[in-house]
Amino acid sequence: MSKTFYLTTAIDYVNGHPHLGHAYEKVITDAICRVQQSFGRDTFFLTGLDEHGQKVQKAAVEQGKQPQAYCDELAESWQRFADVLGLCNQDFVRTTQERHQNVVRSILNKLHLEDHFYKANYEGYYSAKQETFLTEKDRQEDGNFPEIYGEVVRLSEDNYYFKLGRHQQWLIDFIESNPDFVTPSNRRNEVLGFLKNNTLEDLCISRPKSRLNWGIPLPFDDDYVTYVWFDALTNYITVPASLGDPALPGIGSESQESMSLWPADMHVIGKDILKFHAVYWPIMLKAAGLPLPKQICVHGWWQKDGQKMSKTTGNVVDPMAVIESWGLDAFRYYLLRELDIGPDGNWTDEGFQVRYAADLANGIGNLVNRSLSMLNRYRDGKIPPRCCELESEVHAVSQEVIELAANHKLQSALKRIWDLIARINRYIDQTAPFKLAKDPEQAERLGEILYTLAESCRIIAVLLHPFLLHTFSRIYGQLALNDRPDRFSNALWGELNPGHTIDKPEALFPRRDLPAQA
Ligand code: MSP
Repeated sequence: MSKTFYLTTAIDYVNGHPHLGHAYEKVITDAICRVQQSFGRDTFFLTGLDEHGQKVQKAAVEQGKQPQAYCDELAESWQRFADVLGLCNQDFVRTTQERHQNVVRSILNKLHLEDHFYKANYEGYYSAKQETFLTEKDRQEDGNFPEIYGEVVRLSEDNYYFKLGRHQQWLIDFIESNPDFVTPSNRRNEVLGFLKNNTLEDLCISRPKSRLNWGIPLPFDDDYVTYVWFDALTNYITVPASLGDPALPGIGSESQESMSLWPADMHVIGKDILKFHAVYWPIMLKAAGLPLPKQICVHGWWQKDGQKMSKTTGNVVDPMAVIESWGLDAFRYYLLRELDIGPDGNWTDEGFQVRYAADLANGIGNLVNRSLSMLNRYRDGKIPPRCCELESEVHAVSQEVIELAANHKLQSALKRIWDLIARINRYIDQTAPFKLAKDPEQAERLGEILYTLAESCRIIAVLLHPFLLHTFSRIYGQLALNDRPDRFSNALWGELNPGHTIDKPEALFPRRDLPAQA
């Protein structure tokens, strides 16, 4: 059984509202997934929701709802969000699902039996907002705890601890000898720096039910629920385990199906949750004797107008509203083209609109419109005999784009596609088919140019397919081609057959008036 390319996003806290950051993570993961599909690989893309913990319990209580009913309502809108983004995810995991709770119990039991946990008393500081214990080291210079922790209280309680510390050197060695485990490399260095300069403390994996009951009860002590991050990280093996993955024997259900997903090929996460994924998660798996994911791919954070997005100040980008008014492809294009995977990005409405006008309406929109209109006007839409004038140039760019995409360099791949679009737009200006059309002696030359343009548009559609979900099929539709160009191998020059009749062009990205500058 060959292994399926398995990739995941973080699971979002159910009590928030989908914003630009959530959309970005999902869109890059979706594009990476479609690139893999384009090479003919089987893929499995998982996203989902993190539903337990204090924050959710508190939010439900504030609305006078039972936590489960509260989660069920919100889960619907998150699932709709995934659909609106056009994601090709095969499953949607929720940490309140029975299949997930089974897997968490199974891992907890295994680690408990193998003596990876101990019970001890803790006396110190606790942040309910972040559901985490704090030490003096966490205080700022002014003596206060950072704002992100909200109210910090003193606490004394018994809890279960996971012996993380004993795996510290193993993890350093592992990350050093697997340079691609955490990418980009600055994030890898961040993890190594943390591990080399700090003593890893054991991880508290329980919360007493007397304080928090919205969680998965510990299978070996009913007075406690599982710490929300231990619960959440386990989601990545929930679906494989419940599908009977041979790499996860004895975990989850005894499914008759058998799908080979684990280890994940890639976990896509934001920079703020690096420690959980690059320190706690590998150690949890190692302790449980399970294979480690192949790669943790860490993206940066979006700001809006140079500032942190925050619901309280109203400084947010609502992805649903942008998609509603500008279309999914314009939104996906901006996210993927504007920000490489790694650095932080900044959304401005003006930046978005400028890119829409320049790259989409005037760039690809204009190219396809001009090319197909001329073919209709001068040849009744009939493809002229093949011409290879730009074959090697277009082929070279296609190969580069494919290589970049295969290496998850999504932004660079799009840049190269738009270089090609600009090149072909220039080719129209240089060869001036609209002038040649007036001279019957130039009919053959005109035919060559029209073939070159139509075939270039087709290849550009193929190259775009993992990124812009409607544009590629709309270009194919306008070329009156029935097949779905969802393989990069379709980007070979000459597939467009002479004599074939195309359809009428329609604006791919209608021009919009930009708002007047203040
Ligand atoms: N529930 C945890 C993740 C558990 S994974 C086992 C969580 N949820 S979250 O809703 O706060 O964040 C989900 C993802 O969105 C994270 O990867 C986070 O980095 C990402 N983003 C949240 N805000 C973001 C931006 N402003 N910009 C880009 N990504 C951001 O953390």
